[in-house]
Amino acid sequence: MKILRVLCSPRGPRSESYRLSESIVEALRRRHPDAHVVERPVAQTAISHVDEGYADAVGGYGLPADPSMTGSLAASEQLIQELESADCVIIATPMHNYTVPSGLKAWLDHIVRIDRTFASAPEGKVGTLRDRPVYVAVSSGGRYSGERVRQPDFLTPYLSAILNTVGLVDIRYFSVQGTGLGPAALAQARQKAGRDLAAFFVLPVAN
Ligand SMILES: Cc1cc2nc3c(=O)[nH]c(=O)nc-3n(C[C@H](O)[C@H](O)[C@H](O)COP(=O)(O)O)c2cc1C
Repeated sequence: MKILRVLCSPRGPRSESYRLSESIVEALRRRHPDAHVVERPVAQTAISHVDEGYADAVGGYGLPADPSMTGSLAASEQLIQELESADCVIIATPMHNYTVPSGLKAWLDHIVRIDRTFASAPEGKVGTLRDRPVYVAVSSGGRYSGERVRQPDFLTPYLSAILNTVGLVDIRYFSVQGTGLGPAALAQARQKAGRDLAAFFVLPVAN
C-alpha cells in the first residue's frame, strides 16, 4: 500500500502536525505492514505558486495549453500522478490564519485542475479522481472546534469542499488544538487526538 503524506508545516519534522501524522502512519502500518510512505513537502519553497502559463491554460480564456508542459503545468501533472498512484493520503497541516497554510493552497492549486481532475458540467464541477481515504492531521495554536472555540474555522470546510471537487470524499480529520495554550493544554490535546485515533483505527489506548 502506498501512502502519500503531504507535509504542510514550515516547521518540518519538528511540527505538531507532522507528529500527529506519524501516529496515523503507525496506525495504518498496523493494518498494512507493507505500507510505504511517499513524502511530499509543500511548505516554504518546496513547491511554487502557479505561474502565468498555468493561469492562462486553466482560466477559461480559450488559450491553448503549452504543449511542452513546462512550468506549473508540468509540476501539476507530476503532483496529480503522485496523488493518483497513492492508495491513501495523509495531509499534515497547521492552521494558518483560520485556514490552510499557503503551501497547502499551492499544492491544491496544482492538483485541482479543470479537464484533468475535475470536469465542468451543467450541474457543477464533477471530480474525476478515484476516491481513496484522506486522513488530515491538523494542528492549531487555538481551538477551532468544541465548546471553547474563539475563532472561525475556514480550514476543514474549505479543505473538504476542494477535495470533494476532485472526487475525494472519504476524508477523516484528526487534530491537536491549542498548541499555544500552554503545556497542560497541549498534553490534553495530544491525549484527545490519541483517543480519537485509537477509536477510529481500533487501537489499544495508551495510558
Ligand atoms: C502564519 C501563522 C498563522 C497562524 N494562524 C493561526 C490561526 O489562525 N489559528 C490558530 O489556532 N493558530 C494559528 N497559528 C498557530 C499554529 O496553527 C500552531 O502553532 C500550530 O500548532 C502549528 O502547527 P505545526 O507545528 O504543525 O506547524 C498560526 C501560525 C502561523 C505561523
